[in-house]
Amino acid sequence: MPQDLSERLHQLRELRQQALEGGGQAKIERIHAKGRLTARERIHLLLDEGSFQETGVFVTHRSHELGMDENRPVGDGMVTGVGRVDGRQVYVFAQDFTVFGGSMSEANALKICRLMDQALENGCPVVGLNDSGGARIQEGVRSLAGYAEIFWRNTMASGVIPQISAILGPCAGGAVYSPAITDFTLMVDQTSYMFVTGPNVIKMVTNEDVTFEELGGADTHSTKSGVAHLMAANDQDCLLMTRRLLSFLPQNNLEEPPRIETTDSPDRREEKLNSIIPDDNKKPYDMRDVISLVVDEGDFLEIQPRHAQNIICGYARLDGQPVGIVANQPRFQAGVLDIASSMKGARFVRTCDCFNVPLVVFEDVPGFLPGTDQEFGGIIKHGAKLLYAFCEATVPKLTVITRKAYGGAYDVMNSKHIRADWNVAWPGAELAVMGSEGAVNILYRGRLAESDDPDADRARLVDEYNETYANPFIAAGLGYLDDVIEPADTRPQLIRALSNLRGKKQTLPPKKHGNIPL
Ligand code: HXC
Repeated sequence: MPQDLSERLHQLRELRQQALEGGGQAKIERIHAKGRLTARERIHLLLDEGSFQETGVFVTHRSHELGMDENRPVGDGMVTGVGRVDGRQVYVFAQDFTVFGGSMSEANALKICRLMDQALENGCPVVGLNDSGGARIQEGVRSLAGYAEIFWRNTMASGVIPQISAILGPCAGGAVYSPAITDFTLMVDQTSYMFVTGPNVIKMVTNEDVTFEELGGADTHSTKSGVAHLMAANDQDCLLMTRRLLSFLPQNNLEEPPRIETTDSPDRREEKLNSIIPDDNKKPYDMRDVISLVVDEGDFLEIQPRHAQNIICGYARLDGQPVGIVANQPRFQAGVLDIASSMKGARFVRTCDCFNVPLVVFEDVPGFLPGTDQEFGGIIKHGAKLLYAFCEATVPKLTVITRKAYGGAYDVMNSKHIRADWNVAWPGAELAVMGSEGAVNILYRGRLAESDDPDADRARLVDEYNETYANPFIAAGLGYLDDVIEPADTRPQLIRALSNLRGKKQTLPPKKHGNIPL
């Protein structure tokens, strides 16, 4: 080998080693001591063994301000590349906190942008592993420009390729808006936080005292704000969750989500479902039990499980086919629809629809939540989001009414009238304008006031009402339900309906885009 080539080889090995070391051993140890992993350790856990091919390995920043000339780390604190998850191609970027606190430079924004462009051209998901002190202070507006380039690409890629953001450390200021535009945000308990303005600024502006964790920790965003779709116990857990989430999604909007083999028989009946609904229709039961009895091997990945718990959203499979489940939860606020649950449901429905994941609805809903809080907060426009999302969705749409389907909520929850494909009810279902007692009090107030025995009269009228209005056979007779099924048969029936809808093609009228009430 000529002398200069052997020097180059030496240089290559040295630079590669520098790239691998990031900000150096001391900083790596500091990160480990905080319970976090490095960018490269995270990529290793996310991707199939040995599948990672790095891009932009030797990129450095272009900054000359404030002594930056002497400090030009190889890779510039951003690891980008492509690998596989369960054999399927995925693009990944990871911020390296050991280099300038993972802060966003012009050069590493460019690395992300190239990666996103390639992901879009190749029709593959992008996973971002976020751990950053935000805009690189030394680069000023060049860093902000880099962020905006990423936001624009996030928006262009939205609905085309799945985009997942794992938050594994700080994510503050405007930097939060890239994860916010992506399809899913995962956070790690105790070691990650997200906020637009931090505790110090809040203290100055509003005089409120709040800790980092209370303001923007994983727990806060998994319960109160709903910003986080999934919360993990640690980095490893978060990366495994990301792999699991990807398993329900297609590579892009032109592909179907991947079917897998299952040992769970499509004909499995489930007798327990015949007795799962309590005799008293005011008594709660856990809709999660219904879901896990119906889906393949009881396996359910719930999205936003601790936010707006009156609605359940998540992924499961039926005979190996991924489905998105939306279900009212009678255990929380009787499964009523309110602002938070409407927004949670609407977002989930749209995510399923843009990635060709069929929707399965389990309905037990007493209506929309009354109250000034709700009205002043805009339940009209927020409830409309869920309605709009179901109306607009063109994937196969199936609904099983397990018990109540009252009022406007009956229409909203994927009714036949808004183009659901297959709607059935269990025999005890009540499809009506409102519950029987409320209805009797309105219809017969005068008569009951004059009655010698109002309690007995009321009970008789409630029975009459239930017989006349609140049973599924009226809706079935009108063709609003395709069938009334034995609860035990729910799984085989859903699987058959889903299989019959495999060829469904529905298009929306040509338009620039709809105007969902935001
Ligand atoms: C350059 C940064 C940096 C930044 C951290 N560092 N943030 N360098 N730009 N934004 C450097 C530190 O100087 C330090 O360098 C190393 O990273 C690690 O930082 P520490 O402070 O030692 O770490 P830690 O104690 O864990 O605290 C982490 C932190 C803190 C809470 C994130 O670093 C911090 O408050 N940073 C500033 C956050 C911020 O205000 N960013 C701008 C937000 S606005 P050395 O050499 O000592 O190891 C924004 C706008 C985006 O991001 C707009 C998009 C539209």
